[in-house]
Amino acid sequence: MRTTALGSEQLFPMSANGAAKPDEQVERVALGRVVATERRPNTPHEFHFWTALDSPVGIGTIVRVDGAHPIGGQLPHIYGVVTDGLSYTDLATPLHDVIGADGQPNHARAAATERPEIRLYTAAVLRQFPEEPMQPVPMGGVFLADADDVAVALRMDSYLKAESRTAIPVGVYHAGATNSPIYLDADFLLGPEAAHLNITGVSGLATKTSAVEFLLSSIFTHFPESKGSVAALCFNVKGPDLCFLDQPGRLEDSDREMYRLMGIEPKPFEKVHYYAPYTARGLALNTLRSHPDLSANVSPLTWGLTDVLRFAPVLLNRDDVDAKADALIDFIGDRIVDHDFTDERLANGKRYRVQSFADLEEWFRDLLDHMEDRGNEAWRTHHVATIRKVRNRLINIAQRCKGLVTDAGVRSDLPWGTFQDRAVYVIDVANLEEDAQDLVFARVVSLLREHLERRTLGVSHLVVFVDELNKYAQSDGPDTHVRRMLLDISERGRYLGLVLFGAQQFRSQVHRRVVGNAATALFGRMDADELATPGYQVLGPATRTKLATLDKGQLMVRHPHFTQPIFVRFPRPTVLSGREGADRYPQAEEPSLTEAVLRSLRSLDSTIQLSFVEDVIALYEEHEVLRARDATVKTRPQDVKAYFKAQFRRIVRSEQAPAPRATLRTAPIDDPYG
Ligand SMILES: Nc1ncnc2c1ncn2[C@@H]1O[C@H](COP(=O)(O)OP(=O)(O)O)[C@@H](O)[C@H]1O
Ligand SMILES: [Mg+2]
Repeated sequence: MRTTALGSEQLFPMSANGAAKPDEQVERVALGRVVATERRPNTPHEFHFWTALDSPVGIGTIVRVDGAHPIGGQLPHIYGVVTDGLSYTDLATPLHDVIGADGQPNHARAAATERPEIRLYTAAVLRQFPEEPMQPVPMGGVFLADADDVAVALRMDSYLKAESRTAIPVGVYHAGATNSPIYLDADFLLGPEAAHLNITGVSGLATKTSAVEFLLSSIFTHFPESKGSVAALCFNVKGPDLCFLDQPGRLEDSDREMYRLMGIEPKPFEKVHYYAPYTARGLALNTLRSHPDLSANVSPLTWGLTDVLRFAPVLLNRDDVDAKADALIDFIGDRIVDHDFTDERLANGKRYRVQSFADLEEWFRDLLDHMEDRGNEAWRTHHVATIRKVRNRLINIAQRCKGLVTDAGVRSDLPWGTFQDRAVYVIDVANLEEDAQDLVFARVVSLLREHLERRTLGVSHLVVFVDELNKYAQSDGPDTHVRRMLLDISERGRYLGLVLFGAQQFRSQVHRRVVGNAATALFGRMDADELATPGYQVLGPATRTKLATLDKGQLMVRHPHFTQPIFVRFPRPTVLSGREGADRYPQAEEPSLTEAVLRSLRSLDSTIQLSFVEDVIALYEEHEVLRARDATVKTRPQDVKAYFKAQFRRIVRSEQAPAPRATLRTAPIDDPYG
């Protein structure tokens, strides 16, 4: 029996018009026979067959039926997947067995004759040849599908052709001697025909996160160049899950063999960039990937007023912000922020150029003072109560999202416009408050959409991975901004090359249109309660039982080309798991101000000493020091020391020199960097 991996043309058993296979079944041995009775007839979509007791057939096995009578000059071939099985003997009633064993189960072995026993399987039809006329499955021999049969049965042959190959391996199908990669069609996974992927299953056993990591390596290896470029943006929503995608993980030989079969080099991702906001105090980034050995590709994610104002409604809509407030926010966005603004009635016609929360606060203060002085109830149709409310809400954003939104500090953002092919961008939002998470999702997804629409992102396809969809796109939860964004990607993303890979424990709790629009669905080990929900009733009881007992690394795959779900195995991902990574690279403690600055500057210039930092910052306030650090990290100047120092000269020039602090710091005895 052939066990060759697919790939070369001559292996394809069917020509495009479905001509029968060359007569190469000579040496193949049937492992079953189709049977049909009046009570259990075969249909065009289902058939029954029996096998020997020792056959390797089980639920999920793919088989081929060779009919005996030609139809239109062709011998029919029918491909099916086993969905149920029965076994029984010729025993008329269980009582006969009791009598035969004298009522003693351990005497049963002594029975004079062994009763004939049957393994009777039901298979769902995957594909028939010839396809027309579509007929009930005929009697015939049943064979274990080999790699070529699997390709035909799942209609993968159309996208495995060398000249138009769009096949992305998702795992390996195994039965008897067959070990055959199963491929998804890139046109149906990443658009434009269909798109999106959803994976579901219980935590810790379903291997959801691992499956997505593996699939991303597979996509990066096999996505055809002719289709353009592809990158991934992952939101790390839980602990250290995605924090070590550039570090090699532990693989077993069986994993390596699967990688070989699927033509993927088992190595971690080469281009990985991490983004995380600062902690509220601002000394360190708010991520579990804080070990100094791994800091080279971790960048801050900090936004200013101009970045977030557009998304202010995300944070405000939960409160009672009404149409009047919306109108004022729009006015501020259109006319005030980042615009020259003067109003001769306001502060004697003072010129405003609002660019930070601090500037905005000043503008509001002047406006309210002015109204109070005059006893005015309204300014340009905006009522004083609305102005007060909007002021409180807006100024509050910098407080509520401290570390992400800077009041007056330096902004640092994703590389909009220069996303790289086959790169992974991870935004760590695991430790953020809900408000800040919402803001990150809303702004990042909106900008991704806009850039892809204008073709200015840098790549033509972007996979967005969001774990815990049953939290972010709940079916019966409130209509949040994040959920609307996820719905929008699901419904319109595929035309743009914006693809959602979502994972969750309970698919039934995710919004119908989010899961419904995912053309490809993966299922790992499932919870019995979840399997009892209506969505799974289309699966037979045997398939559901199999889903409830899947091993780690086993998945059930639904894909538009496959007419039935298919079971595959996938290898451990090539990257360090979150748990192991967190052990090997423990989180760094929150540093002191001096250490924090030293660390940041050292990533730019390794010769910088603690004493240099101490001398430079000794006279300044924490927020001034952090601002200078941010500016330096953002600019990455040639001469780091000079640039960093110069930031303070600016402060002295533009403000009054602050009073010197009472005590000057000296180098500690245990200077960790000295
Ligand atoms: N292909 C695989 N085969 C066997 N074990 C795996 C495989 N992939 C992952 N695992 C293991 O399964 C565990 C859970 O994986 P994970 O992807 O975190 O699951 P989930 O995201 O569903 O909670 C991990 O400890 C991982 O090492
Ligand atoms: Mg997970």
